[in-house]
Amino acid sequence: MTAPEQAQPRASASSPGADAPGAATTDADGDHSYEIVSPVPADGVDMWRLAVESQTLDANSRYAYVLWCRDFADTSVIARRSDGLAVGYVTGYLRPQAGNTLLIWQVCVDPVARGAGLAGRLLDAVWDQAVATAGADRMETTVTPDNESSIRLFTSFARRHHTSIEREDLFGPDLLGDAHEPEHLYRIGPIARSAGVQDAEARTAGVHNTEGGKK
Ligand SMILES: CC(C)(COP(=O)(O)OP(=O)(O)OC[C@H]1O[C@@H](n2cnc3c(N)ncnc32)[C@H](O)[C@@H]1OP(=O)(O)O)[C@@H](O)C(=O)NCCC(=O)NCCS
Repeated sequence: MTAPEQAQPRASASSPGADAPGAATTDADGDHSYEIVSPVPADGVDMWRLAVESQTLDANSRYAYVLWCRDFADTSVIARRSDGLAVGYVTGYLRPQAGNTLLIWQVCVDPVARGAGLAGRLLDAVWDQAVATAGADRMETTVTPDNESSIRLFTSFARRHHTSIEREDLFGPDLLGDAHEPEHLYRIGPIARSAGVQDAEARTAGVHNTEGGKK
């Protein structure tokens, strides 16, 4: 698949274990490397495709993803393989009522890239980005009770960041309808600032941090 045109220069997201801007991680076979970056509107088309193909996520309109990439690029990331194929994304936003809380809306990894830790790296990258740009110190997400991989993904994130994760009921069938699983709210944090975030800030300021930034 051809990579979409980029409407504007990309900002690179930082990612633990991939400290330099645009640095790559590899898939389970080691055949491909991935670049994790902030999205531009054209990336919304690939996000929409990945959401539809996942058959798990609530796929919103193509327009919604394109608009999202325009307005929430600082709290979202997309992963591209070295051959240009988009293989994963995270969409998030800072809660209007609590600007230090990053709400992760969707995490999606193409089946060809699953099982290699890519979702965890996407989550770490979007987190570092939200901390560097907005000083976030808490994360929230909603997960359906049947989504074991997603629950493990966020539980691992909390463990990596040495903080707690708590679950509570959020939305049930009264709001979502009988055809939709209930959504549980997971609260993670407070989360201390990490070396990876400090590196991201240093890069933004044009300062080289010689201490490295691995978590
Ligand atoms: C959930 C999803 C994003 C995980 O992507 P991934 O790149 O394979 O995940 P990772 O390799 O980073 O693994 C993250 C954690 O989930 C676990 N995991 C991954 N797939 C799993 C599965 N099928 N069953 C149980 N656990 C699983 C991993 O073991 C890991 O946990 P650990 O750190 O305790 O070992 C991917 O399966 C997906 O896109 N699913 C469809 C969309 C979706 O449900 N998104 C989440 C809700 S928004």
